[in-house]
Amino acid sequence: MINRPLLFVLFFMIKKFSLPRGTTDILPDEIAAWQDLETTTRRILKTYHYQEIRTPIFEDIRLFQRSLGDTSDVVNKQLLEMKSSQEIENAEQVAMPMESYYALRPEGTAAVVRSYLANGLDSKDQLSKLFYIGPMFRGERPQKGRLRQFHQIGVEAIGTRGYLPYLDAEILALAMHLLKDLGVKNPRLKINSLGSQEDKEHISIWLREELGKYKKDLCEKCQSRFERNVFRVLDCKNESCRRIVTSVVKDLPLSEVSKIYFQAVQEALKKIHIDFEITPHLVRGLDYYTHTVFEITADGLGSQDAVGAGGGYDWLIEELGGSPNITYGAIGFALGIERILLSKGNMIESSDTLNTFVVSMPNMGQSSALQLVQQLRQASISADMSFFSSSFKSQMSRANKLGARFALILGEEELKNGTVAVKDMLKSVQEPVNKDKIVDYLRKALS
Ligand code: HAM
Repeated sequence: MINRPLLFVLFFMIKKFSLPRGTTDILPDEIAAWQDLETTTRRILKTYHYQEIRTPIFEDIRLFQRSLGDTSDVVNKQLLEMKSSQEIENAEQVAMPMESYYALRPEGTAAVVRSYLANGLDSKDQLSKLFYIGPMFRGERPQKGRLRQFHQIGVEAIGTRGYLPYLDAEILALAMHLLKDLGVKNPRLKINSLGSQEDKEHISIWLREELGKYKKDLCEKCQSRFERNVFRVLDCKNESCRRIVTSVVKDLPLSEVSKIYFQAVQEALKKIHIDFEITPHLVRGLDYYTHTVFEITADGLGSQDAVGAGGGYDWLIEELGGSPNITYGAIGFALGIERILLSKGNMIESSDTLNTFVVSMPNMGQSSALQLVQQLRQASISADMSFFSSSFKSQMSRANKLGARFALILGEEELKNGTVAVKDMLKSVQEPVNKDKIVDYLRKALS
């Protein structure tokens, strides 16, 4: 027989909620690494003159279906759809309007393009250089470096003057600059060109012809990819598919104009000393890419070794309602923050220091302590206190544990005299300071 207290404990154990699969809590002792990463990122992006944009974390599901492609894994299997309970109720009574279908964003590019067009940024400036930092959501099977909620640093340059090879070079240089300064181990840049949207259509026919000769030897997944999106056969990891692809596809047959463009991008990269490797089989899992595509791999990541990826997407702007009279050009990338931190390895120590900890007389001194910490915080001096009625000794050891620079002691004597005993925790020396002078005293001592 299980006794009652045990049942009680078991009940509460079961009531505990666990973390949704594929998500993580970022705890206070990990936050310094995230903040440090964000500060470095913002600093570098400023030097390249990119401005932050914040879009909602959910959008009309059709935005993703139309831009990422019906055949992409992200749309096919990974979109996390959402409905409000209100809409579910309505759905039982009336047919649910399509507008009420939303999905959590699996990536940032589609939303940025939606916002770019909705807010008429194309008529405000000939080039919008934008970035975002935030969570993305994909219903993937979780494993090391592959999460259902993960975070990206995303960069998008969208303009109204068509494709610009120097802008491609800037974007690639920026991605590498960020990764190097963020401490990623051995980032390697692989690039390729898919050509224009028209080129892609021709290449797709050509690939079907060439790979079609070996269709029966392709893996099951590639047999279906062959019909739906033949480009995806090129990045299949299956050994037999790889062998066929390497023997059949030496280069993608680009138009002359696209070849010249890709050449110009390579020249520009060489001029600014960005190392790269041309990988003719590099295609991306999202359908919107045209012209330059790239992937950056790094050490320390295991099998999910892509720390960032991106490419051009002029076609997408028109597809999402851009003016047919404008020749858009667009290129961007996203870096996975969890993968950056994984590659970087060692977590950094929090640099948050506590200036003061107020130690007061057990039972009676707490209200004076509360007044003092409030006064200090208003003067931009960080301060904390004990909220329990604990002994002087345990309050002092708490001050020590929190790494307070000064312990401010309010004992019987001090309360009577209107003073504070200031103990320098580093030097282990103590002196009385008049309460009226305490802010000035600490400012000087902390400067
Ligand atoms: P993506 O290749 O899907 O591109 O993702 C970019 C990066 O996000 C990946 O290289 C990886 O580091 C990280 N990432 C992706 N999925 C996961 C996951 N499930 N768990 C952890 N990290 C992940 C894009 O998202 C495009 N929007 C990039 C872009 C911007 N292209 C043009 N502009």
